[in-house]
Amino acid sequence: MIATTLGPLKLDTCIYNASGPRTGSTDALAKISASSAGAVLAKSATVLEQNGNDLPRTWQSDKVASLNSEGLPNKGIDYYLSAEAIASANGKPYLVSLSGHNLADNLAMLTKACKVDGIHGIELNLACPNVIGHPIIAYDFDQLRDVLTAVQAHEGLKASKKLFGIKMPPYFDGPHFEKSAQIINDFDCVHFVASINTIGNALVIDSEAEMPAIRPKNGLGGLSGPAVKYTALANVKKMRELLHPRIAVVGVGGIESGEDVFNMLLCGAQAVQIGTCHWIEGPKCFDRIAVELQEIMQRKGYTSIEQFRGKLQNWS
Ligand code: DOR
Repeated sequence: MIATTLGPLKLDTCIYNASGPRTGSTDALAKISASSAGAVLAKSATVLEQNGNDLPRTWQSDKVASLNSEGLPNKGIDYYLSAEAIASANGKPYLVSLSGHNLADNLAMLTKACKVDGIHGIELNLACPNVIGHPIIAYDFDQLRDVLTAVQAHEGLKASKKLFGIKMPPYFDGPHFEKSAQIINDFDCVHFVASINTIGNALVIDSEAEMPAIRPKNGLGGLSGPAVKYTALANVKKMRELLHPRIAVVGVGGIESGEDVFNMLLCGAQAVQIGTCHWIEGPKCFDRIAVELQEIMQRKGYTSIEQFRGKLQNWS
């Protein structure tokens, strides 16, 4: 009832995890695959293992939002491409995320990922706000075009025919939606766009201490959770309108209920990813949210997501 496809991949449910919290180890990935998640996506990798930014680097409030400046702590690309990591996905589509320090690193990781059979898809993270001294790649449209030009020319990716997508930052203005979509449309190598990463450079203040809640970047970090879901919905809707139909949009940002997924699907998402809610609630969130989505569909008489996907009504 809530199955979907992403390129050649069949996902039993259209809901899976975002690259981020609880995705850094094979144990964590195995817990995702044991849930109702339709796919398993690993933590954004760098060429080598790294510890990330100084602590404290995360902040959570119960309901409203979370903030992180993790700085890509991860075990290095070889770990996420290993037989053990692939086995942890337990037969579900397994995707890796790449977030190298520079284009050469990303291309080197892409070369490796393309050679591994058990990797079903690759997400290139163009939106991390937390690497000190490195602005968000996809806010620089020249750099966005340069990266995609290099990926398009990558022989290994072409030969492997693997699913390839990009993780995007949120945009906030019409011309920016249009410009980014126009660039992406020029590249056949892009099969999906995952919108959105966290809203970069937000600040949470600890009033008692009269200082920022997290240490890196003088307190600035990526905002996530329910507060960002409206921005995420707008980005999914605009990307769906502006991107070529051959490019799928994967909705991500603040999803915490079946209704949130339903709304993402109405905006045209092909699948959704869940980050902050997974972080807070653990992998059982995929079971709960899948049930909630099915309840909404039953109430409305839908038997598949295609019956309402992308069919958000307009005011006349
Ligand atoms: O908010 C984020 N945090 N987005 C990313 O892409 C990476 C992550 C981190 O590790 O800092």
